[in-house]
Amino acid sequence: MPEPADHSSFADPLNIDHLKASLRTRAFGQVLRYTPSTTSTNADALLALQQPSATPTPHGSVFLTECQTAGRGRRGRTWHSPPQGNIYTSVIVLPAAGTTRVGPWLSWIPLFAALATADALVAATGLPISVKWPNDLLVERKKIGGILCEQTSRPDKTIAVVIGIGLNINAPLDSFPEELKAGATTLAAEAGRLVDRAALLTELFLRLEQRLDGLLTDGPTGMIDEYTQRCSTLGRTVRVSLEQERIVEGVAESIGPDGCLRIRVSSDSAQPPSPSLLEVRSAEVVHLRG
Ligand code: BTN
Repeated sequence: MPEPADHSSFADPLNIDHLKASLRTRAFGQVLRYTPSTTSTNADALLALQQPSATPTPHGSVFLTECQTAGRGRRGRTWHSPPQGNIYTSVIVLPAAGTTRVGPWLSWIPLFAALATADALVAATGLPISVKWPNDLLVERKKIGGILCEQTSRPDKTIAVVIGIGLNINAPLDSFPEELKAGATTLAAEAGRLVDRAALLTELFLRLEQRLDGLLTDGPTGMIDEYTQRCSTLGRTVRVSLEQERIVEGVAESIGPDGCLRIRVSSDSAQPPSPSLLEVRSAEVVHLRG
């Protein structure tokens, strides 16, 4: 059991100059828009993508803040975003010039982002980070971070994706609302020390860029294997709430070629019953327990 992190001298401002100087990426973070506080970095990035090209938001542009007043989670939920100590960032990802099949590329973004984020967290702390399908980041069964990918069409009709990443790092756990405390944790609580956020962000942007390069050059096959190894959902019995109040139970068996979760179904509230191996996609899933 790690020692609780000492927050007694808690003053951990993000050093943006230090962060910029330490980047090891071609694109990710090279345009970096930092504000001490904002509503939501995803909202900021989506808005920026609609602006005329005089304010460029190239591939890899990053929005970063210390505090969100209206942080967004998946399926319209809010993302608890207390000031100081955590990471709230959004990265703009554009399909490479000449990408003809945007659909498969889009379906892999949430999973590649989760894998890259897990890589960065492991590199920074050595903690046993796993991914709950599709893209929750866990230590043991507790959530340490989440990812919200939002897609938009730019004024020139091209597609852009915003990958929003929220990570519980150094904010004291007792600042979390009661309903979140049981299921959430922070990196500092798990590691027993405060974590250098600038160093973690440097690693995060690098891993995101490298994983995306790999996806473009090699396709998703290798990544499916690595994702499978990281994914703690696989092999577990899960209970999935789908739209229209449909509940499916079964064993999470594998990841499909488009990033879907394949479940060996043991019970299904739908009439008529679904096939015994059901493929669910993240957009259809209201809640997954397991
Ligand atoms: C989830 O529900 O698990 C996804 C949470 C994603 C939160 C991040 S914080 C940075 C970015 N801005 C937002 O408003 N949301 C994402």
